[in-house]
Amino acid sequence: MKDRIVGLLVGREDTFPKPFLETVERKGAAFGIRAEMALLGGAKLDDDPRYAVIVDRISHEVPYYRAHLKGAALQGTVVVNDPFWWEADEKYFECVLARRLGVAVPKTVVLPNKSHIPDINEGSLRNLQYPLDWQGIVSYVGLPAILKPNTGGGWKDVYRVDTMEELIWAYDQTGSAAFGYRPKTMILQEFIKWDDYVRCICIGRKHVRPMRYDPTAPFAERYVVGRPVEGELLERAVRDATTLVDALGYDMDTVEFAVREGTLYAIDFLNPAPDFDSFSIKEEAFAWVLEHMSDLVIDYALGRAEPPWRGEMRWSRFVR
Ligand SMILES: Nc1ncnc2c1ncn2[C@@H]1O[C@H](COP(=O)(O)OP(=O)(O)OP(=O)(O)O)[C@@H](O)[C@H]1O
Ligand SMILES: [Mg+2]
Repeated sequence: MKDRIVGLLVGREDTFPKPFLETVERKGAAFGIRAEMALLGGAKLDDDPRYAVIVDRISHEVPYYRAHLKGAALQGTVVVNDPFWWEADEKYFECVLARRLGVAVPKTVVLPNKSHIPDINEGSLRNLQYPLDWQGIVSYVGLPAILKPNTGGGWKDVYRVDTMEELIWAYDQTGSAAFGYRPKTMILQEFIKWDDYVRCICIGRKHVRPMRYDPTAPFAERYVVGRPVEGELLERAVRDATTLVDALGYDMDTVEFAVREGTLYAIDFLNPAPDFDSFSIKEEAFAWVLEHMSDLVIDYALGRAEPPWRGEMRWSRFVR
């Protein structure tokens, strides 16, 4: 039988790893489950996978990990979150999906890249409408609007634009030296003038913890304690967040809603390595995360639960 070891892959985060590994060890000891920081390097085709489960919180920034995890998934390791889907997922796609699911999202347009790799010339772009109908685009999303990357996080390259001139200036930046001339695909979104804001931590596609969130506050103060989300707002946030993470198959995610006149608009739900830092989500939510994350990986390690992608990928018939 495969070792029942749970491995954790992390970046610079400091507050989550140790308590998470300790919780899994404490709760899993009776089942022979151990937990450790995963150590990956130079995976060979014939390697027996060391881990029953790997919780991946950093492969979006370390591409080798992702290559390794894809192979490990086929060798029988349950990878949280699915490395294939995470790599494919994008914010524009998610907005289209949300619409289908009846979850409100801001009006959104995905824009052609401002720049391309040097080898590309006009001949390569014959299918691209040019010039863009900026007037039509802006009259659809309205002003102010948000210009932001189609994939990404950490508020990087997120612009609020109030005028057409600001929009064009911001769009031009996305093809400039500031972006290393690397083409970045951007989306333009209706700016939701919110009167309330909720961020939900979602684990295992069913546990949802909505918290008030203040995007205007400094980073460590954005999750608000002492003003819990209640009543109908709580119900709707849980319902819509569950709908989204279930459709996307994310076992860990955060789903953010801007609330305007009672309507919850899903703003960002592509957060497959959500912020779990205790100083940011605060003590109670941190304990909740440890509880549900440890239960999730123990269930996977024991084969009590199936990861969402099993049976859906063509190749998953060949998982060991
Ligand atoms: N359509 C919108 N309307 C109003 N505010 C928005 C909109 N889109 C983004 N924002 C604001 O910009 C912030 C960052 O946007 P978004 O969450 O999409 O980027 P991110 O880089 O994925 O951020 P994070 O690292 O917090 O997940 C949001 O928290 C929100 O305050
Ligand atoms: Mg995000």
